[in-house]
Amino acid sequence: MNNSDITIIIPTFNEFTNIENIIRKNFEVLDNVGINGEILVVDDDSKDGTIQKVEELKSEFERLRIIVRHEDHGLSQSVAEGFDEASSDIIQVIDADFSHPPDLIPEFYRAIKEGGYDVAIGSRYMKGGDISNWPLKRRIISLGATFFGRMLFPEITDPVSGFFAIKKDVVRNAGLKPRGYKILMEVLGKGRWERAKEIPFTFKDREVGESKLKLSTMLDYIKQCVDIGTFALFNHDTATWKEWKKIIKFGIVGASGIVVNSAILYTFTEYIGLYYLISALIAIETSIITNFILNDRWTFGGKGSANHRIKSVWKRFASFQVVSVGGLVINFAVLMSLTEFFGIYYMVSNIIGIFVAFLWNFIVNRHITWHA
Ligand code: GDD
Repeated sequence: MNNSDITIIIPTFNEFTNIENIIRKNFEVLDNVGINGEILVVDDDSKDGTIQKVEELKSEFERLRIIVRHEDHGLSQSVAEGFDEASSDIIQVIDADFSHPPDLIPEFYRAIKEGGYDVAIGSRYMKGGDISNWPLKRRIISLGATFFGRMLFPEITDPVSGFFAIKKDVVRNAGLKPRGYKILMEVLGKGRWERAKEIPFTFKDREVGESKLKLSTMLDYIKQCVDIGTFALFNHDTATWKEWKKIIKFGIVGASGIVVNSAILYTFTEYIGLYYLISALIAIETSIITNFILNDRWTFGGKGSANHRIKSVWKRFASFQVVSVGGLVINFAVLMSLTEFFGIYYMVSNIIGIFVAFLWNFIVNRHITWHA
């Protein structure tokens, strides 16, 4: 048997009703486009006949394997064990229950094989993606999880997706500590990757059987986010650290703006004798200009700057200017409402206002002014 082009990992726990259909469908999709793929079922000792069904199908499909686990039960742990056991350089992960459309697998495969991506992610939250028939509670939980995930990987719209493909090298010796349901977060947080592509898909809730997601799974997820964040502090080649570096630089530039602003306000008022509000206007505009130059050259400059979506420096400046004025309005509105309506001491309200305006400035400029 020659080497496989792709290993499809299917984690299973009590999937008797789905397993045969998903295996047949996956092989059919690969055969149709001439991809040599193996399927690796990673089962957590199901007692409903899943294992026996796979064993039975092995006589029909030469490239079907199963690992039965007896310890450390869990979806992420199973997928991670599948990574170690996969015989191909490209690995796809897909649920057994048809929540993820197998028809898209060739697209994932090509993104990695031909497109030069390290990771291909099925996204429910990008344009063209969707979720069908999910109860409201599940949608809310998922949106919350995605929000935390995006703080660690702002470029990825669905960092908690269970439908993705990777180059095996991404996770080789990456020291994954898989827990809970969000194995992709672990891969993105600790794996070695540069380029990720997202592919929109519609998540269909399972028709047969039930989700095994529990409260403890959500607690595991929060621990996992903290762990990935801590990992990034000590491992500076991770995507999360690269992002945080931008936030830190943006903060330093913001602080330098305060110095410029204060110096001009004082000089123009005290030494040139301008009315202090006129000096303040000049000070604000000057600090916007110096902040722009520093952010354009330093925070968002360097190697990636050739990829800025807004090519003209004047247009980037115009965008930064508008966002900065928005930031001032937000700062003022927060200061006024916290002081007037909640009776909070105005210096405290102002600090909160500055913080909210900082987040606004960073997020909007990051995604619009300097979006690469
Ligand atoms: N080996 C193993 N061990 N497999 C498991 C386990 C486990 O403890 N728990 C679940 N699975 C398998 C199921 O048999 C199925 O193939 C797949 O993992 C997904 O299980 P579900 O329980 O149906 O997951 P879900 O629909 O709640 O969650 C899916 O969507 C999430 C996105 O919101 C999964 O794809 C998650 O990975 C994904 O994050």
